[in-house]
Amino acid sequence: MKIYLDTANVNEIKEYVELGLCDGVTTNPSILAKEGKDITMAISAIAKIVSGPINVEPIATDFDGIIKEAEEYAKIGKNIVIKLPMIKEGLKAVGVLKKKKIMTSITLVFSPSQALIAAKAGADFVIPFVGRVDDGGAYGTEMVAQIAQIYSNYEIKTKILAASIRVPMHVIELALAGVDIVSVPKSVLETMIKHPYTDAGIKKFLEDWNKKKT
Ligand code: G3P
Repeated sequence: MKIYLDTANVNEIKEYVELGLCDGVTTNPSILAKEGKDITMAISAIAKIVSGPINVEPIATDFDGIIKEAEEYAKIGKNIVIKLPMIKEGLKAVGVLKKKKIMTSITLVFSPSQALIAAKAGADFVIPFVGRVDDGGAYGTEMVAQIAQIYSNYEIKTKILAASIRVPMHVIELALAGVDIVSVPKSVLETMIKHPYTDAGIKKFLEDWNKKKT
């Protein structure tokens, strides 16, 4: 399973690159707004430290505007993935950008039917929002497991990049379903790394060792 970081904060990304836990990055307008930088500058800074796929979402939602922004961001590097909303303009942009050899992901996906359409459009990645499906009272990881089954049935090459991950159990349930990639915020990664029993175990080992030394 690949782990992408769901942030545009260069310091956060640097920390996890050094831990070997950053296979890629996802951003969106809300995440980029937090950094308060020009999108091209923010993504270029990330591209200096991340060699894996870096997802950037155009602000435009009209077809021409999407293409214009996509071509600008794609200049940053070959690992740039243009993140397109699951709307007709986004689906249409996938085909155009594919011809230009620009990778694409279809985001804001909330159902297996949307995921099927995204794959039909030829997107390299599909981004279902697990936490927000939960917020709506449905079962986010189960929905993504259905997408994984459908993609497996037809040997679909589009990669599933599950996002809107809120807790470690989302990651575990997605891993059990064989999902390709999760994109997680720092808070979830921190919780995945830590466990109170690990801390207690280290403390006990040191106490026992120090007893022996006296
Ligand atoms: O990449 C999408 C992710 O940032 C959305 O997460 O928690 O706002 O649903 P959340």
